[in-house]
Amino acid sequence: MADRAYPGTGITVHYDRTRCRHVAECVRGLPLVFDPERRPWIVVDNERDPLLVAEVVRRCPTGALHYELDDGPAEVPDPVTTVTAVPDGPLLVRGDLRLDLGDAGRMTETRAALCRCGSSGNKPFCDGSHERIGWRSVAVTDREPSGGRPHSEPAVTDD
Ligand code: SF4
Ligand code: FES
Repeated sequence: MADRAYPGTGITVHYDRTRCRHVAECVRGLPLVFDPERRPWIVVDNERDPLLVAEVVRRCPTGALHYELDDGPAEVPDPVTTVTAVPDGPLLVRGDLRLDLGDAGRMTETRAALCRCGSSGNKPFCDGSHERIGWRSVAVTDREPSGGRPHSEPAVTDD
């Protein structure tokens, strides 16, 4: 975990670079706030509406971004848990998640990119290693008749 806080008026944005997969939803949503070419790359007060900043943070599919509103509620998880497989990449999960971190216990989350190549050094999260090793996902129709999950998939519970 490499969480860094970026305080602004009415809201603080938190960024964990180890979980960012550079999907750029944040940059597309608020390019004046999120600019990877600038240092610091997050300037929260470039947007006057903290609720809009929060809305864009919630688009971050990996959970690299989170927020705290000074006077507002905490992020509410999606009511339905969804899992989206990125071709040749991680599983994007949204919902009221409890992630098993092994010796580090359990973590409550709303969004996460979970490793399914088995090579991440930051399990259960994707760290981009699938690109380094050239991992390819296998189409469902090409799997064993048993239909079992690949053994490398991480466990996700939403209890
Ligand atoms: S939306 Fe999240 S994962 Fe994508 S670039 Fe921004 S912080 Fe990184
Ligand atoms: S799927 Fe990205 S590191 Fe495994």
